[in-house]
Amino acid sequence: MNIDNLIDIFIDESRENLQVLNIKLLELEKSPENSDAFNEIFRTAHTLKSMAKAVGLKEISELTHNMENLLEFLKNNNKTTAESAINLFLQCADKLEELIGRTVETGSDQGCEGVNELIENLRREINPGPQSFCAATTGIKPGVSEYAMPEKNMHSHRVPGISGQTARINTKSLDTIAHLIEELIINKTNACRLAEKSGSEELSMAINSIGNISEKLREEVLKLRMMPVGQVFNRFPRFVRDLCKELEKDIIFMTEGSEIKIDRAIAEELSELLVHLIKNSIDHGIETCEERIISGKKAKGTLKLAALKENNNILIKVIDDGKGIDTEKTVKKALEKGLIKEKDICGLTDSEILEFLFAPGFSLCEKTTDLSGRGVGMDMVKSKITSLNGNISISSEKNAGTEVFITLPPEIN
Ligand SMILES: Nc1ncnc2c1ncn2[C@@H]1O[C@H](COP(=O)(O)OP(=O)(O)OP(=O)(O)O)[C@@H](O)[C@H]1O
Ligand SMILES: [Mg+2]
Repeated sequence: MNIDNLIDIFIDESRENLQVLNIKLLELEKSPENSDAFNEIFRTAHTLKSMAKAVGLKEISELTHNMENLLEFLKNNNKTTAESAINLFLQCADKLEELIGRTVETGSDQGCEGVNELIENLRREINPGPQSFCAATTGIKPGVSEYAMPEKNMHSHRVPGISGQTARINTKSLDTIAHLIEELIINKTNACRLAEKSGSEELSMAINSIGNISEKLREEVLKLRMMPVGQVFNRFPRFVRDLCKELEKDIIFMTEGSEIKIDRAIAEELSELLVHLIKNSIDHGIETCEERIISGKKAKGTLKLAALKENNNILIKVIDDGKGIDTEKTVKKALEKGLIKEKDICGLTDSEILEFLFAPGFSLCEKTTDLSGRGVGMDMVKSKITSLNGNISISSEKNAGTEVFITLPPEIN
């Protein structure tokens, strides 16, 4: 196997490891005494280092080596990992994502900024200067690292790439094979017609059996393209956590039906859609703890991503228990934008009213922030789903929350 093949394998495997790293870091953030999570982080950093070393990716191996050193230091000194230390490790995870992205593009991990600063910060923890922040008693404002790291724009936080679980498949080749099989099936139909014309029963039978084999091949290739939707869902705990910190919300994030299999190509698209919907739930739907308590709700909000199979289709739900969508305000806005006439308002059902949210440029925000207010989110989600031959609908109840339902076909045609 040549080095390019090895790098391909590294990329796939390292993304899986990065997902684990992010998830375990969040677990450790929730319960700093969780030694299983700590050990898993340790193992993952070690695996990443060894894999990167094996394929000559120096930046990645150097960064993970220093992560490992700090983890070892914390372990040997029985230190609890403080939230600010978790933030440093999360920054490392982000940088690793960037370095892996760089490797995908250029075949090398060289040329990303900020790696040395991160390594320096990790080292300083082991040989502390005047201010150490890894022990749990630092008194540093939670969630804020005291190091001068280049400020990361949370909104541009990329949701990590999808990784495979077992087989390493070049998805481009798989698409080519699927395409060739479709061609084969079309050609078989033509050949069948010609065989019938020729009157040769033997020829017809031979062509039919080629047809049957092609169909079986098609099914097998489709199966190879399937992956558990959990691989998409797993991208979001980190995204939700970062957004919650930024917006000062406290949210319990849950997933359901992670084992349901979806087409890899649909998974990529789904991931993009979910970014918009989750952003909406956190920014517009779920209230701050104080607001929730005033409305008689539990202080922590909940956000759930669920997948289920319905007939042959995949149903995805995004459910929040936030303040819901204000239908009166929606109608008012629709009137303002000329989407409906005054005389037609009274016959509208709630679901018809909520359809206005999919109109381009439709937002209920008073002002535009760098997170929301342009009214493109729902419009983009709807157009994407329509192009996939899927469906989307919303149901919402004031003060109780919003549910977005997406139906997707089992495969992209
Ligand atoms: N889960 C939700 N809870 C409450 N309101 C929501 C929810 N999802 C969407 N909305 C409402 O729907 C409107 C339209 O959403 P959309 O994402 O299209 O635009 P936006 O969030 O305002 O701006 P942007 O295009 O920048 O995301 C929002 O302004 C918001 O009022
Ligand atoms: Mg939005």
